[in-house]
Amino acid sequence: MNENFREFLERLRAAQQLVDIRQPVDIRHVGTLVDQSDKALLFHNVIGYDMPLLSGIIRTQERAMMAMGCDNYSDIEKMLAHGIQNPIAPKYVATSATKEVIYKGDDVDLFRLPVPMSSIFDGGPMITAGIVISRDPEHGLNSGIYRFMVKEKALSGIDIVTPNNMRMFAQRAYEQGRPCPISISIGNHPVEIMGAGYRAPIGVDEMAIAGGIRGAAVELAPCETVDLPYIADSEIVIEAEILPTGWTQPEGRFGEFTALMGGLHWNPDVRIKAIMHRRDAMYYSLHMPWENTWLAAPTRYQAIRSALRTAGVQVKDINVTLGGRAFWHAVISIRKQAGEGKNALLAALSVMDLKHVVVVDDDIDVFNGEEVEWAIATRVQGDRDLIVIPGARAKPLDPSLPVMPPGMVPTGAKVGVDATISEGIPHERYDRISYAYADTAKIADYVDGKADSVHVSEPEQLEDAATEALALLGAAPLYYTELAERLSKYDFRTLARALGELHERKQLWKTAEGKLCVRGSSFDAVPPTRR
Ligand SMILES: Cc1cc2nc3c(=O)[nH]c(=O)nc-3n(C[C@H](O)[C@H](O)[C@H](O)COP(=O)(O)O)c2cc1C
Repeated sequence: MNENFREFLERLRAAQQLVDIRQPVDIRHVGTLVDQSDKALLFHNVIGYDMPLLSGIIRTQERAMMAMGCDNYSDIEKMLAHGIQNPIAPKYVATSATKEVIYKGDDVDLFRLPVPMSSIFDGGPMITAGIVISRDPEHGLNSGIYRFMVKEKALSGIDIVTPNNMRMFAQRAYEQGRPCPISISIGNHPVEIMGAGYRAPIGVDEMAIAGGIRGAAVELAPCETVDLPYIADSEIVIEAEILPTGWTQPEGRFGEFTALMGGLHWNPDVRIKAIMHRRDAMYYSLHMPWENTWLAAPTRYQAIRSALRTAGVQVKDINVTLGGRAFWHAVISIRKQAGEGKNALLAALSVMDLKHVVVVDDDIDVFNGEEVEWAIATRVQGDRDLIVIPGARAKPLDPSLPVMPPGMVPTGAKVGVDATISEGIPHERYDRISYAYADTAKIADYVDGKADSVHVSEPEQLEDAATEALALLGAAPLYYTELAERLSKYDFRTLARALGELHERKQLWKTAEGKLCVRGSSFDAVPPTRR
């Protein structure tokens, strides 16, 4: 799949998933309009700006699937896994159309870009779709997406409160008292957004993963003022450096992936050194929170599956739930061997920012919340099946964590619920209620008039029925329903009466699993009084 950004937009437009709005629109209305729209929106005439403004391109699961060329949402995870296992190194090109217009020095002016606000409590206009490439002298290149709040014409901040690789690069530069150069590519195909959003181990080039997903190298071109590449296909590129201010500048609030307003963040300042764009560039504003969700979730699926594979646990299904904002919760069904409920929890809880994980057996549908809750209700003992790990790496955006001094990263708790059937508990306790003749007795047929035909036995056949029942039960214990089926030549009332006779004659008993058997035979369950 080697489609570029504009080709993807054309495909959205052709599928009537992108609407062109050509009349003048006040940028103050954009966030709300995007939020209301089930289509991506391209505002051609944003009052006071020369550049069109695009938003909402991957705001639905359907468009995320379209972006990745998949018919099933689960295929996105497979594409990502393929990209991780088969990375393709970026290809360096000399230049690209992004350099058609270049502003440097005093000509730099962030306010030329139609950067909208999103929600009411936002701290200011925020660049949300910037793919940031940075370099650390020891660890090499890194890509990620971080938000930039526009403050002055050549000054913004970068939101790196979370402990990720970019934060570590900036921290190392800060400790050495030097700026940390970055390139910010805006207006890119969702494949690159997904690659950058994937939390690869330090030293792994996320653009090579994006190349692996595409099956073709991502093209990078050199920046003008910093010794870094940018994504050659971008609509707009901002060249900048994170200043060694430390985490001292107040920013926010930010609308977060949690669907909550984050609080005030303390971030470093970012000095803008150049802005370049295509002559007819569009500014892409990624609309929080949903545009962040649909391509983020598969990165969790992939990482959980990989961690459980390493742990040697067989996974049936995973649901990174939307209630957990596709970040914090996973329900995992496994084909369990003894003890693996706990192993699965330990492996999954180490993944990314997962906070709460529920592991269930493979008979539970992880996509059915009621079934999962039922497994928790019927299979869990809190003192045996809960794991609480305090002091783990946490996401500072978690509103339930204590307030920290500026620049400090909090730790948090991870909780695992082992809702598999515990070792030593008889499995027949989990036999589900099921109904006999389900294949043949269909209510629709009876509503349509279907009638059964059973010959009603003569009273003198009662003794025959009792004798035959006893013979059958002597050979092997049977459930009542099985016996009723074997002796279906008698009507049910005759058979029930025959069994009643046998019971009265004290010839019937039960096996441990509740089947009928002959009293005193080797099959019968021993009552407490006979122990
Ligand atoms: C749309 C979008 C916005 C994001 N905004 C931020 C952000 O503001 N700050 C942040 O730390 N991470 C943000 N992330 C998450 C990081 O991009 C992601 O965790 C990435 O893997 C970090 O990479 P790194 O560990 O290489 O730095 C965002 C992700 C997406 C997809």
